[in-house]
Amino acid sequence: MPRYVLLFGPPGAGKGTQAQILSAEFGLPQVASGDLFRDNLKRMTPLGQLARQYMDKGELVPDDVTVGMIRDRLSWPDAKPGALLDGFPRTPPQAQALDGLLAEFDGQVNCVLFMKVRERILLERLSSRWVCRGPQQHVYNIITNPPQVPGRCDQDGAELYQRDDDKVEVQAKRIRVFMDQTAPLIEFYAARGVLVEIDGERSVAEVTAQVRAAVAERG
Ligand code: AP5
Repeated sequence: MPRYVLLFGPPGAGKGTQAQILSAEFGLPQVASGDLFRDNLKRMTPLGQLARQYMDKGELVPDDVTVGMIRDRLSWPDAKPGALLDGFPRTPPQAQALDGLLAEFDGQVNCVLFMKVRERILLERLSSRWVCRGPQQHVYNIITNPPQVPGRCDQDGAELYQRDDDKVEVQAKRIRVFMDQTAPLIEFYAARGVLVEIDGERSVAEVTAQVRAAVAERG
């Protein structure tokens, strides 16, 4: 049976960082809605152009567009064993659509890792984040996890850049959108008994250890 593990939390909580560390170890591909939108944007697809209108303002891309994109990605051969979902679902309708989708693959949401981080720390992390332009969009932080060569990705040598939606005014909006539209999912998954709270303010290695333990127990 495939396994589906959700990395859940506000912008800057460390979802992508943990997914990149643990995807190979868990044998599950990272399926990150934000990365998929950015990849489409880079390739100038109609989906990317549409998504940009929302992303630049820190708003959510409409549910039907997002669900369609995830449905397609989960049907790729590498997602046969399941997936490490990063940033999806983000609204109650997306969570309901995900249930239907996973049922098609004979799976279900096994475990939701809620990475809790206070707003002040989120803002600090987003302001100091740099991301690789390569296809895997490796994540760095000039304070806590700088690259060996400034401006270059350690893993594939691609240029690092700051995301447009990491501008100070957009960061705050994204956190508000999380509180208003995504936080209701905490109750939704807690009621099912699949939610695990992770202290996302600890070091990257300590967060990885918490995630590993939670997935070993439930995922
Ligand atoms: P998306 O790309 O998903 O962004 P996000 O959820 O806002 O999350 P981030 O990527 O900002 O943060 P993260 O939690 O992955 O943190 P990271 O590991 O990078 O979405 C972008 C946009 O796309 C949305 O605003 C929306 O428009 C659209 N979108 C995406 N999904 C959608 C959906 N489902 N529905 C509708 N629209 C959608 O870490 C952040 C920084 O902190 C890094 O610098 C990192 O090095 C550092 N760091 C990480 N962990 C630690 C630690 N433990 N200690 C110290 N530093 C750390």
